[in-house]
Parts: sequence; structure tokens; C-alpha cells
Amino acid sequence: MSDFALHRHLPQLELPHIQLGEYPTPIEHLPALGDVWLKREDLSSPIYGGNKIRTLETLFADSQARGMRRVQTLGAYGSNQAVACILHGRRLGLDTGAVLFPQRATPTAAENMRVILSECEHVRMLRSILTFPAHWLALRSSKDTYLVPPGGANPLGALGHSANALEIAEQLHAGTMPTPKHLVVAIGSTCTTAGLLVGLPLAQKLGLWPGELPQIHAVRVTPWPVTARSQVMKLAKATARYLEQVGGPRIEPDPKLLVLNTKHFGWGYARVTQGGLAAAKHFAELTAPPLDTTYAAKSGAALLELARETEGPFLFWCTKSSAALPQVDEARIARAPGHIRRWLQRADKHKAFAP
Ligand SMILES: Cc1ncc(COP(=O)(O)O)c(C=O)c1O
Repeated sequence: MSDFALHRHLPQLELPHIQLGEYPTPIEHLPALGDVWLKREDLSSPIYGGNKIRTLETLFADSQARGMRRVQTLGAYGSNQAVACILHGRRLGLDTGAVLFPQRATPTAAENMRVILSECEHVRMLRSILTFPAHWLALRSSKDTYLVPPGGANPLGALGHSANALEIAEQLHAGTMPTPKHLVVAIGSTCTTAGLLVGLPLAQKLGLWPGELPQIHAVRVTPWPVTARSQVMKLAKATARYLEQVGGPRIEPDPKLLVLNTKHFGWGYARVTQGGLAAAKHFAELTAPPLDTTYAAKSGAALLELARETEGPFLFWCTKSSAALPQVDEARIARAPGHIRRWLQRADKHKAFAP
């Protein structure tokens, strides 16, 4: 039986998929927070986990189906997706690389940057975000390079998360948790949220989802317009259309399921917030999975607030990998361009404040 829930329930789908992760990711109760349950996406792979693995399973399979070994991704200096692309792409024999733009220098981002510098030969670290669109366009029109867009946010990438909704429906049937009323997830590129906006009604249509569909509290960590409501719905609708094209049923994503939570964004992408730090500290005290300050800590802060004010059950996405990172290669880091070494130094100065 396939480990990919979309193929399990819709075997007729003509959808590329290659397994990188270990599924189902567990659902665990966090009783100290009451009616709160954790979807342990952090455990999706011991090589490098987190929510991006599901995205890469369909995208890498597509690159292989097209016979394209060169894969490039795009993101910020501390991109989890770049780390996931590099570490998992290698397993498939892909020649992966990344074009990365500057972001706030934080310990979380620096940890990833060190891994990227240590593990990847083909990484281009831009000095300014202003040149990023030109690089994106050039890669998009390249004939011999498969482009994984920022966050993997296209219909094929999002379907990996639709599969997760079916996986959760199976876990609910097995009695793992009561049917959640609220899902809480960080929204960066919109890929995960858009996939869920398709996967939940799909699970309902297939008769898998017990009871009413939950609201998705998508906690903004990247600015408008990247995470504008209209953008999320646009990707969800494109994902639903794509699902139909590859042989799936017609799904109408319901905008009423989407609650865009903008309260925990702070002063910008990757900017550390007090609420995020407090949530990360609280999770650490409970020996719950790690919350990174860029993404999961902000959604963690939203979860803590919601759990105080609203009735559950809640299902919280642990989106940051908890796998041990590979050893870094200090010699390679020492050879990085000067602007990157200075950026790493700035990030290290903030270490004292990090969770
Ligand atoms: C740890 C983590 N959480 C959440 C997200 C947001 O997911 P998405 O980009 O699918 O909206 C990301 C995206 O990179 C991430 O790395």
C-alpha cells in the first residue's frame, strides 16, 4: 500500500510522487496546554524534517519524470526549504542549488546558512533582494534546470499537504484524537495552507473526515501581499484545478475555513517577537518540539492565545524539523564571501537572546 495518502485513496491519480519522509507523522496530545494536539511534522524525516518534505516529494518526482537532474530553489538566507532541498535532493542523486536573498540575521537563520554553505556547492547568496526577481525569472526560463519556487508554492507542491489532510482523517478514524475544531499553522509561502484548503474538503468528499471541517488559523510570518488572503485562495483554487486535471474529483476550496491570523507577525519576516520567544520557551519547558523564531514560534504564540480564548480541540503544526543537523564544515564557511561572514557574525551576536 502506498505511503502517499493521495495515492491510497485515489489510485487513479496521475501524480508524480517519490517518498522522502516517514508517514504518518504522529499526532500527540500536549495535555499541559489542555485540548491541544500536535501534528509532528518535525518528525517527517530523520535526515531533515518539517513541513517542506511533503512539498518536495511531488516536486522532486516531477523533476525526475522530466529527466531534470539540476534542481534550484529560491528563498531567504536561512531557508528551511533550501536545507531540505539540498539534503534530500542528494539522496536522489539530484544536483541541487539555491539562490538566496538577505534576511534578518538571527541564530535560527544562521544555523541553516551554515549547513547550506557546508553542504552545497551551487549556492548564490545575493547582496540585495532587489536582484532576486531577475534571478527568479532567469531560472524560470532555464530549459535544463528544474525550479522549486520559494516555499514550493505551486499546485503540485501544495498537493503534498492535501495528502496530509487525508492522513489526518485516517488518524482521526483510528481514534488518535477527537476531530479538531481548529488547525493552527504558520503561513509563509502559502503552500501548506493552500494544500490543506483542498485536502480537507477532499477528505470530506471521500467520506473520510469525521464531522465538521475545522478552521485553519494561518499565522502570518511573511508580509502582505505574499500571504494576502487572495493569494492563499488563488493557490488553493489552482491546486484544486490541478487535482481535477490529474484525475481527482472536483473540489471547491471554502474561504470560510481560512482564518488569516496577522497578530503575531511583528516587525517583519524573521524578526523575533516577544510572543514567539515566550511560546518557544514554554514549548521547551514542556519538552514539546522545537519552535523556530521565524515560523513555528509565531504560530505557537497564536496557538497559546487561541487555546486561552477559544474552545478546542486544536491541532498545531510542528513545522520546524527536529532532526539533528549535519556537522558544519568550518573551512568552507571561512571561505564564504565577506558579506555572508559578516551576516553570520551579526546573527551570532543575538545568540544570547535566542531560545
Ligand atoms: C518551519 C516552517 N514553518 C512554516 C513554514 C510555512 O509554510 P508555507 O511556506 O508552506 O506557508 C515554513 C516555510 O518555509 C517553514 O520552513
